[in-house]
Amino acid sequence: MIDFGQRAQLCSSDPGFSRGQQAWSEGILDCIGRTPLVRLSRYLDESSPELLVKLESANPGGSAKDRPAALMLADALQRGVIDGQTTVVESSSGNMGIGLAQACRYHGLRFLCVVDPHAQSQNVAIIRALGGEVITVNEPVDGSYLSARIARVQQLLDETHNSFWPNQYANRCNPTAHELTTIREIDDAIGGEFDYLFVATSSTGTAQGCRDYLRKRGRRTKVVAVDAHGSVLFGGLPGERLVPGLGAGRVPELAEGQEFDQILRVSDLDCVVGCRRAAAREAVLVGGSAGGVLEAVRSLQHELKTSRVVAILHDSGTRYLDTVFNDEWVASSLGVSPEVLATRVNESALLPVSQDVG
Ligand SMILES: Cc1ncc(COP(=O)(O)O)c(C=O)c1O
Repeated sequence: MIDFGQRAQLCSSDPGFSRGQQAWSEGILDCIGRTPLVRLSRYLDESSPELLVKLESANPGGSAKDRPAALMLADALQRGVIDGQTTVVESSSGNMGIGLAQACRYHGLRFLCVVDPHAQSQNVAIIRALGGEVITVNEPVDGSYLSARIARVQQLLDETHNSFWPNQYANRCNPTAHELTTIREIDDAIGGEFDYLFVATSSTGTAQGCRDYLRKRGRRTKVVAVDAHGSVLFGGLPGERLVPGLGAGRVPELAEGQEFDQILRVSDLDCVVGCRRAAAREAVLVGGSAGGVLEAVRSLQHELKTSRVVAILHDSGTRYLDTVFNDEWVASSLGVSPEVLATRVNESALLPVSQDVG
């Protein structure tokens, strides 16, 4: 692994860094990062706290995962761990798969992407359009699709000569990409003046990278990790989860022993409500985990009064039109009618999002 100084150098012409005065980007990977930071003044019922959101859907692959995907490959190329003949193999529920498909195609590498039945079909189509080869596991292992995907990755690595597993669940480049770019962009934009950062968690790479940046600078910003009911992260009990990208069925290596200032858990329905409310009140289409993050903020809005809150929204609602934004899917999967959903979306009462102090 290259050291932090080398990586900063590597990144200066790679994901998320300034193009200087040049008016164009040097290829698609140079467009990663510098995503919009947007003030949402209508989502919460209260006029305070001030809510700023980082719209990661503006990355060229459509999600925050473009950042670690590009850095994991750039790091491996720089260290000579991979070359132009390498086959990259990864397990992904969608967004990391797209980020890696994009970066692999750019570098001319073969890419095998292992997905499970929860992956959105549109994501899978995008991975294929970018030249990735998609392998679907249909049976969970020990009740977890994540374990099943990782077992298949191991098998593909064993079978394929000159293969490489970026392993987003253990690769330190994952949090480092966010430490070097995502949180730095936020910090630069608002000058360190914010009280809370809300981040959805799965590998925990985004939340860790942001937390580490803030702690190294002695900031008191509270980092709130938003997890799913049914996720085993942070001591949670396993259960069914329908919103992809949020939570985990097994604790990834990266997440072991990780602590954040606060842990909040949201339900699938909270995610749907947040997505629908962001569309209705702010005209912003956000993805499932982002809806959950927004509802987590809303559940604390009275406690957070007079605070400035930043929330990282990992992807766009355009990838969830058949699920989160589809009334029939909500009724059949979550047992919630359009009328009840509309009431939840419009209500101003506090929501029962459960919380633990990390
Ligand atoms: C939509 C979405 N939200 C949140 C996350 C969680 O990010 P992290 O893996 O950095 O914890 C992911 C990760 O795949 C994701 O795809």
